[in-house]
Amino acid sequence: MKKSKRLDLIPPYLFVKIEEKKEELVKKGVDVIDFGIGDPDLKTPSHIVKKLHQAIDSKESANYPTSKGELVFRSAVSKWYKNRFNVEIDPAAEVCSLIGSKEGLSHIILAFVDQGDITLVPDPAYPVYKIGTLLAGGQPYFLPLKPENKFLPDLSLIPSDVLKKAKMLFINYPNNPTGAVADKSFFEKCVKLCRENDILLVSDLAYSEMAYDGFRPSSIFEVPGAKDVAIEFHSLSKTFNVTGWRIGMAVGNKEAVSALATIKSNIDSGAYKAIQFAAAEALTASQNCVAENNKIFEERRNILYDGLSSLGFKFEKPKATFYMWVPAPKAETSASFAEKLLEQAGILTVPGSGYGSFGEGFVRFAITIPKKRISEAIKRLTDIKISF
Ligand SMILES: Cc1ncc(COP(=O)(O)O)c(C=O)c1O
Repeated sequence: MKKSKRLDLIPPYLFVKIEEKKEELVKKGVDVIDFGIGDPDLKTPSHIVKKLHQAIDSKESANYPTSKGELVFRSAVSKWYKNRFNVEIDPAAEVCSLIGSKEGLSHIILAFVDQGDITLVPDPAYPVYKIGTLLAGGQPYFLPLKPENKFLPDLSLIPSDVLKKAKMLFINYPNNPTGAVADKSFFEKCVKLCRENDILLVSDLAYSEMAYDGFRPSSIFEVPGAKDVAIEFHSLSKTFNVTGWRIGMAVGNKEAVSALATIKSNIDSGAYKAIQFAAAEALTASQNCVAENNKIFEERRNILYDGLSSLGFKFEKPKATFYMWVPAPKAETSASFAEKLLEQAGILTVPGSGYGSFGEGFVRFAITIPKKRISEAIKRLTDIKISF
């Protein structure tokens, strides 16, 4: 059987390798503290689950959905944008439902990238922007995210010939894996650059609701005129603890939304209607459950940050996401440090190099485990004595 050359472009999915390593250790009886994949351990709020139960019972839910999504869901997305960001979104033309935002982020690339086209991709980043580009025959041009720039790309360094060939710019704030945030002035710069160079701006807003210390992340559409050039992806996965349900949305520029829906209608047939109905409830009901989640994550963040700082790690306390992007000691690489943590302390983290070459020198902790386990991890780290 001869597989496509396309398949050779794909490195092994980061988390598959990590899960294999974890399984090996667990089999040997090691009590692994898992800071690996960013999958919330908290329960889906009960009013959302209740709505799903009801929606499953409804005859209406059984039929094919439209790829663009049910009007109830698209209207709920529009209301959520109005309430959350004071942004007007037309549910008829400016929203598309997604089977999780990963699905939408990969499919939007098929709608815009031809063979040899360039996409502007942050490094480090969520792997889908890069892999999606390669699968479409495009070429990612990497924008380094460095601590000295607060993990924002320096747009002024992109060469003009690259800008001419670029079709898309990906940004993701609050950011996975660095936990960095951006203010509106950065979003304004991105809109300006994309407008001047006829580039589709893709804002990945998966973590907009997971923020601390009173910080409220912005939508790209808070920048006037952003809809001329931008599409934004949000996901209910982390906001409402429904990663397995697979539901998200693409919002913004009509042409981009419609192009995405065209690709989707030829590949999938939309998200299960019952899930869309429950998601509409999640977006329009009280958002107190989100605040309650954040309180829990904020406490966990404080314990891990204080613990790591007391051991000598030096980095900024993240204001958002449930990730901590921790510099490895100088003598270690990302991979060697992650391996040391796993083998000597039974602590699973993700080597930063898996997110791109500028992720080298960091490991990522996801605080998706209870406070007690985080404290236990700090104790184990104290015991193995880390020198910097
Ligand atoms: C930055 C970012 N974008 C998008 C996603 C995809 O989320 P989902 O497909 O569950 O909506 C993730 C998931 O981890 C992510 O970290």
